[in-house]
Amino acid sequence: MNDFSPQIIQTEEGHDFVQQASSFLIKAIKSVASPLVALPTGSTPLGIYKEFASQYKNDAVWQDMRYIALDEYIGLPRDDERLFQNWIGRECLDFLGVEQDNRITFDSLAPDPASEVQRINEIIAAQGPIDIAVLGLGTNGHIAFNEPGSSFDSATRVIDLSDETRASNAEYWGGLDRVPTQAYTLGLKTLTDTKHIILLVTGAHKADILDKVLSGPITEDIPASILRTVPNVTVIADSPALKK
Ligand code: PGA
Repeated sequence: MNDFSPQIIQTEEGHDFVQQASSFLIKAIKSVASPLVALPTGSTPLGIYKEFASQYKNDAVWQDMRYIALDEYIGLPRDDERLFQNWIGRECLDFLGVEQDNRITFDSLAPDPASEVQRINEIIAAQGPIDIAVLGLGTNGHIAFNEPGSSFDSATRVIDLSDETRASNAEYWGGLDRVPTQAYTLGLKTLTDTKHIILLVTGAHKADILDKVLSGPITEDIPASILRTVPNVTVIADSPALKK
């Protein structure tokens, strides 16, 4: 298996991370005509989305961009504010003016999840590969919802969420018992077929896992370690996350 070293951009925490990551992302998105872009939910990108709103809101780039969801919880009505598609709408896509028709998202209430998976895989086959996948990193090494043990060959599918992922999202859901147990996720193969992957990592609580991702064994136990098997990866991380 190849072991490429990702390009690493180290920033200071806070403002410096937001500035450097935002301008890097804008440049990457602008370098492609009508780019197909996956963007993450979570706390890591929040400052970047605010920066997009204040500095790049009226930029023509958003008119041409096609957004694709990385993942989504299963079993929630379309107007549930906790759905990732509603979260990314509120925090990012709505105020940038990305048209609904240009958003590829999972239908959380699809009656047949297998057909829903097939629908998304067909869209990726027709419109892909993804040009730019911006990813967050879970403390267990997941990217999108590819939990530890996910096959490096995986395509879009339904996944059972790990206890660690459910626990880390419990606050958002108002208690662990309310966190859904299943989700849709783009697969690791789909993600590594992307032309340019940008992994965003902040905070000392991610230092151990980022160290394993960058320097440990390349293994399905640490899904993000697959990023070392492809050459087109940029890691933007703040110094607390890179302290190891
Ligand atoms: P976070 O989530 O940005 O809230 O840390 C990252 C992830 O779990 O993918």
